[in-house]
Amino acid sequence: MNATILPNSEKHYPVLLKEILSIISPQNGGTLIDCTFGQGGYSKEFLKFQKINIIAIDRDPECKIIAQKTKEIYKERFSFFNKKFSEINKIENINSKIKAIIFDLGYSYTQIKDPKKGLSFENKGKLNMRLGLNNFSANDVVNKLGQKDLELIFKYFGEDKDSRIISKRIVDQRLKNNINTERLVSIINSVKKKSGRIHNATKIFQAIRIFVNKEISELIYGLINSAKILDVNGILLVVSFHSLEDKIIKYFFKSLSEDKKISRYYPEEKNQNKLFELRSRKPIYPSHQEIKINKPSRSAKLRYAIKKKNIINFERDFINKFSKLLEIEKLSEKL
Ligand SMILES: C[S@@+](CC[C@H](N)C(=O)[O-])C[C@H]1O[C@@H](n2cnc3c(N)ncnc32)[C@H](O)[C@@H]1O
Repeated sequence: MNATILPNSEKHYPVLLKEILSIISPQNGGTLIDCTFGQGGYSKEFLKFQKINIIAIDRDPECKIIAQKTKEIYKERFSFFNKKFSEINKIENINSKIKAIIFDLGYSYTQIKDPKKGLSFENKGKLNMRLGLNNFSANDVVNKLGQKDLELIFKYFGEDKDSRIISKRIVDQRLKNNINTERLVSIINSVKKKSGRIHNATKIFQAIRIFVNKEISELIYGLINSAKILDVNGILLVVSFHSLEDKIIKYFFKSLSEDKKISRYYPEEKNQNKLFELRSRKPIYPSHQEIKINKPSRSAKLRYAIKKKNIINFERDFINKFSKLLEIEKLSEKL
């Protein structure tokens, strides 16, 4: 879960902003894509640099209001698309070279606190969790999928050790009543008994949110299609907030920044097939000072790499590596 806003405050804190600005050097100008516009925290900071153009994307239709205000100020230097970032390569009229593409994954504090979205276990009533442009809701998942399917979703997307028993209880309980947010929390509490460091329901809610918003394929195809449209020497930056996302991002950058031989008959210097150059294998974390001002930033990790070549068909190994997770996402076809 992400929250780039300080709770109970009107002030918005885009996570790791200082670090991102120093990597992309916006003073030199160019076109950037902000794949997760949200409250416009990054876009508005980048646009302060006169020679920067921004193409912004967000799947949540409610972001259009802030996007419209941004457009009124920055006119042709800014455009917004209510799309999923996995479709970044389908945006019309991208005719400039893309200097950087930025992802700030997850949800904003405004979205988490919005009772209509029902993302949090603190909400009441019917389960939802749709961020926008979805085909089904958390209510459909919890009340319609079979026990084995729920168990797989909880185990792989939530890494919850009680996945089997919780999925069994859900299927038993829903014979009597539809499962809403409060009933789901109470089923989880009945299995886990005591609350630990994190709330009992955190992992199961995370798993359902990932499934409802197809976050695994969104991230996988978002990264692949970004790598395709980025200009050579352009930078791909990703801020993530949980280990499942980070595992995917880390593998993507690492595997595509290693030299792979095209042919053993080629001379060594012509035989390098690396898509990216990594400046560091380690992620960048928020400073103590940032965490002090914006506590939720403490789980953020920034990874980035520089595109070195135009290579086609680089994605097969990456997709295969996460095929189990993609297969679990396809359980939604039963809904
Ligand atoms: C953490 S917020 C971004 C905050 C933003 N950087 C700011 O400073 O205001 C993440 C945003 O990504 C959007 N989002 C999540 N998954 C998406 C996807 N697959 N495609 C497009 N937008 C997505 C969410 O709707 C949310 O607005």
